[in-house]
Amino acid sequence: MAKKAKPAGEKPVEALSLKEAKAEHVRLELQIEQHDRRYYQQDKPTISDADYDALRRRYEAIELAFPDLRTLTSLSHKVGAAPSGKFKKVRHAVPMLSLGNAFSAEDVTDFVERVRRFLRLSEKDDLVITAEPKIDGLSCSIRYEQGKLAVAATRGDGAEGEDVTANIRTIKDIPHELKGKGVPDVFEARGEVYMTKEDFLALNKRQEQEGKALYVNPRNTAAGSLRQIDPNMTAQRPLKFFAYTWGEASHPPADTQSESVAMMKRWGLPVNALMVKCRSVEELLAHYRKIESERAKLPYDIDGVVYKVDRLDWQERLGFVSRAPRWAVDAEHAGVFHRD
Ligand code: IVH
Repeated sequence: MAKKAKPAGEKPVEALSLKEAKAEHVRLELQIEQHDRRYYQQDKPTISDADYDALRRRYEAIELAFPDLRTLTSLSHKVGAAPSGKFKKVRHAVPMLSLGNAFSAEDVTDFVERVRRFLRLSEKDDLVITAEPKIDGLSCSIRYEQGKLAVAATRGDGAEGEDVTANIRTIKDIPHELKGKGVPDVFEARGEVYMTKEDFLALNKRQEQEGKALYVNPRNTAAGSLRQIDPNMTAQRPLKFFAYTWGEASHPPADTQSESVAMMKRWGLPVNALMVKCRSVEELLAHYRKIESERAKLPYDIDGVVYKVDRLDWQERLGFVSRAPRWAVDAEHAGVFHRD
C-alpha cells in the first residue's frame, strides 16, 4: 500500500529524451494494465487510488509531450479491464466511459471555462452544473425492456462487460420492473453497486466470529460480492445501488441531468439525495467542501465529487474526448479524497 508511484528523482517529463520517454511509456503501460487487472478483474488492488492516479497522470503527461507515443492501442483510449471470462460477455450498446479529473480549484475553474468557451456562452448565459458524490463502488448497467429488468452488466473495459443479471436480481434496492409514467421501451439505468460502511463492518464482524479472513474495504467487497458465480452468495451480501446516468434509452428521461435523475427516482430506481445544482465555480467548490466535511458521516464511501453540465442538449454538443465526456469531471482536489 505504501508503494510510492512518484519516486524522488523522477525526471520531469520535459527533460526526457525520446528513447527514455518510450521506455517509460511501455513500463507505465504494463504497470497500469497490471493494476487494472487486479482492480477490475480480481477485486484486489495492491496500490492506493492516489498512487494509481499518479501513474496515469505521468503516462498522460508523457503522451502529451511525445504525441507519437499515443497510438491507437494507448491506454488513454481504454477504461477498466476486459472481462475476466468467469461470466458471459455483454457488449454495451453505448460505451461505459470514465471521467476526467480535477485536482484543484484551478482545474474546476478551467473545466467551467472550457465548457463556456466550447458552447460559446456569454457572461449573461446561465450555466447550471450539477454536483454529486462520486460513489466508491462498481459501475453497472441495468437494461430494462418494456419496463422489465432484462440484462445487467458490469462496466468491464467500457465496451464489453460481464453478464451479472442473476446477481443483480438479488439486490433488494434494484426494481425488477420500472413503474410510473413515461418509462422508455428500452432503458439502461447506469450507476454504482456499493456496500454501506455499516454493512461492511457487520459482515467483517461475522467473518471474525467465524474465524474467516477479513475483507479489505467496502468497494472491493461489493465488487467481489457482485461477481460471485453463485447468485445465492450475492443474495447474502448487503449490496445497494445508486442510479446516476443511463446508456441506451428509447428516449432520455428528461431535458436535464437533474430532472432525469428525479425521473429515474419516480420510476423506482434508487438515486443519491446529495445532488445539487450550481451556477458558479464558487458554488461548485462550496458544495465540494460541504460533501468533504460530511464525508466521514456519510453511510457509504465516496472518492470525489462529480460535476456534470445539467442541460442534456449541451452535453450532446460537448461530446467526448478519448475516454471521458467534455461535459463532466471528477473533482478530487489535491488528493483530499484519496485513501492511502
Ligand atoms: S457519471 C461518462 N456519476 O466513476 C461517465 N460516475 O470515472 C459518466 N462514479 O465509471 C459517469 N459515482 O463508476 C458518474 N455520481 C457519479 C459517480 C460515477 C461514481 C464512477 C463510475 C464511473 C467512474 C468514472
